[in-house]
Amino acid sequence: MTGPDTAARLFRDTFGEEPDGVWSAPGRVNLIGEHTDYNGGLCMPIALPHRTYAALRRRDDRHLRIVSAQGDGVVELDLDDVGPGSPQGWAAYVAGVPWSLERAGHPVGGFDVAVEGRVPLGAGLSSSAALECAVAAALSDVFDLVLLDSPAGRVDLAAVCVEAENTVAKAPTGGMDQSASLLAQQGHALLLDCRDFSTEQVPFDLAAHDLALLVVDTRAVHELVDGQYAERRDSCEQAARELGVETLRDVDVADLDAALERLSSDLLRRRARHIVTEIARVEQAREALRADDFARLGELFLASHDSMRDDFEISVDELDTAVTSATSAGALGARMTGGGFGGSAIALVRRESADEVRATVEKSFADKGFRAPECFVVSAAGPAGRDL
Ligand code: GLA
Repeated sequence: MTGPDTAARLFRDTFGEEPDGVWSAPGRVNLIGEHTDYNGGLCMPIALPHRTYAALRRRDDRHLRIVSAQGDGVVELDLDDVGPGSPQGWAAYVAGVPWSLERAGHPVGGFDVAVEGRVPLGAGLSSSAALECAVAAALSDVFDLVLLDSPAGRVDLAAVCVEAENTVAKAPTGGMDQSASLLAQQGHALLLDCRDFSTEQVPFDLAAHDLALLVVDTRAVHELVDGQYAERRDSCEQAARELGVETLRDVDVADLDAALERLSSDLLRRRARHIVTEIARVEQAREALRADDFARLGELFLASHDSMRDDFEISVDELDTAVTSATSAGALGARMTGGGFGGSAIALVRRESADEVRATVEKSFADKGFRAPECFVVSAAGPAGRDL
């Protein structure tokens, strides 16, 4: 059964009524520009064909009833009981959205919702942002907020979802995932400037060039709410303070060496070097895409991965193995994508060699005794919207 139909049926089976509609939002992979978003930098995600579906019906009171095909049982709570750290678990990514909409001055109320998640969980592909954005899209329509209808409204909706994630779910993430889910266009990568959240659609149609993007979900453990992500964010903010700039975006790559000398520790130097060089690589990747120079894009993927492994220290053995084995099998380039510490890698491959790259990666994982990875080819899909 399709995602929208599954969500609608779960709604009817659980609540005994018809939903007002079904909305959905995609997960993402980031092509390049990692941990740059909370540094006011650049990143370039695409939306995945994998989506999360929300069948939703508006209520006249302030009650919330939430059920998920991937959870167990109905979570019930009052909108007035939602706040920092409450509720806990996955329901925070649903209940945080109306809380955050109200804080931003948008009048909403209670609702019943049934969720069908088809973005792989824990794979670093932003299943949580897909959930928030599917609910946000539904609430915009059923409470007549008209935020889905314009790019500016979608930027506002993304900010609302980020606030829900930062404050209610207490994950200090930077905004790339929600922007990708609400703003990325089919056949395009989204060049996102996190200084002001302005965007540019960059054509990204690999099939037209006999290429493909292979995602390798390493299935290694990955948890953003743990301390590592927050520690990286704190280090970047400390480096910016020591340099007297608002964010590391304000450090020009041409002045990097002089800036690094002014930092108080080798650790901060490595963290800052990753961010400043990674932002420069996003600009170079945009130029490579404009010129259809995919060999160059592959080189940039590899340089990005090295920087994350050595300077930002967010890679793990499984991710490094995915990158080296894919490259040894002929990929033009590969890199880990997302927050790190597990999750997924991406490889840019010639279409006819996708199966061979995949087999080589799987064999390398088996040789090293890792869990078998999930490998799949993706293309750039469309943003959050209404399905039924
Ligand atoms: C996670 C966060 C994003 C971003 C990436 C790293 O996906 O949710 O905000 O920081 O990590 O680029």
